[in-house]
Amino acid sequence: MDHYIIRGKRRLSGELTVQGAKNSLLPVLAAVVLTDGKSLIRNAPDLTDTESAVCILRELGCSVVRQGRDLLIDPSNLSSAEISPTLCRSMRSSVVFLGPLLARCQKAVLSLPGGCRLGERPIDLHLAGLTKMGAEILWEDDRLICTAPAGLKGAEITMPFPSVGATENLMMAAALAKGTTLLTGCAKEPEIVDLAAFLNRCGARIEGSGSTVMRITGADRLSGCAYSIMGDRIAAMTYLIAAAMTGGDLTLRGIDPRHLAQPLQKLSGTGKILSVGKDFCRIAGTVPPKSIPMIATGPYPAFPTDCLPLFLSLAAVSQGTSVFWERVFENRYASCGDLAKMGAVIYRSERAAAIRGSHLHGAAVSAQDLRGGAGLVLAALAAEGTTTVSNIAWIERGYERFCETLSDLGAEIRKE
Ligand code: EPZ
Repeated sequence: MDHYIIRGKRRLSGELTVQGAKNSLLPVLAAVVLTDGKSLIRNAPDLTDTESAVCILRELGCSVVRQGRDLLIDPSNLSSAEISPTLCRSMRSSVVFLGPLLARCQKAVLSLPGGCRLGERPIDLHLAGLTKMGAEILWEDDRLICTAPAGLKGAEITMPFPSVGATENLMMAAALAKGTTLLTGCAKEPEIVDLAAFLNRCGARIEGSGSTVMRITGADRLSGCAYSIMGDRIAAMTYLIAAAMTGGDLTLRGIDPRHLAQPLQKLSGTGKILSVGKDFCRIAGTVPPKSIPMIATGPYPAFPTDCLPLFLSLAAVSQGTSVFWERVFENRYASCGDLAKMGAVIYRSERAAAIRGSHLHGAAVSAQDLRGGAGLVLAALAAEGTTTVSNIAWIERGYERFCETLSDLGAEIRKE
């Protein structure tokens, strides 16, 4: 059960309410550690990464029950501040339990996180900020022993790069720290705003989320709450591009198109008919897409790095040559080798790539990371013939019922 078999050239059309956002849910689940009462987290996508985060919460002593699309969590029996190496390595988001555990328990014991192999992905910005808040960091073999015997205290922290994960760790740590924390140069992603909204509903005092300066006034305690996770903007782009590449007509609900301004602008530039409303996006058009002159990724609101592998596949079937420049991670082009096996014409140099559109044909390919794997599925949907995509565990970390959803929209896809 670890590969998809896809027969291409089927049009994807219909209506879809997009899953809850993985990259909002995971930090919100970590934030539950800060609270002392039950929380009901709604629109929680059923992903392998969700399962990993639930296992971490249970390992820490919290109770977690899934009720349909919701997770009911009770952290009142939190009894440990240590996450096992296996669970730490299961995903990148294990690292965002560091701040909440330090703030709640004055201690945290973790290993380096796992996650997509996009480059070195250090955690120096996380540790530097927590140290400024009074944490003491010790490495023992490959275990990170963090303590804050006098408790965390507010600090003025300037981030040299708007790291999403480091921003999440620091805002969660600051939510229970003594005094006020000023985070300058922090990440502005919509998922950061969602996390701040959850924390404020629990009684935190976070101002400025979504801007480059956040002010967080530490609270004495935080209660639980009911909260609905925002729609997944990267999953949304994945399905919109699937329709664009197969000449379909798809309406996506449950997302705020403003969160996708850059990728939607690039998508409409391909000549597809794109209409947006308050909480929906529709794409239509049977004419093959035109190429994209330039896509440069960057921290929000720039073009999101997670969408680059998706647009590589779109470019591979577009008319003309598209140019890409990746400015966030060192290794965002892991899917290019397999795209070339399918007939894509790709010129690579370090963080840049140029793709001349061509006709793709089926092949045996293998996912190397989450979004690169999704990109290979997109290419298979538009290719002549049959494609086998292996290593789909990478893909199912971030896409809920991916095979069923694509099949419901008209794709000929099965899992074996
Ligand atoms: C989050 O990863 C997302 N993951 C990623 O999505 C996303 O690509 C990334 O943000 C950028 O938007 C989750 O939210 C779970 P960063 P994160 O810290 O927090 C460097 C997906 O497909 N850096 O903003 O790890 C780092 O090496 C995933 O859903 C440091 O140097 O991203 C990278 O070059 C993939 N030191 C850059 O910053 C640090 O301490 C951006 O990393 C931290 C980061």
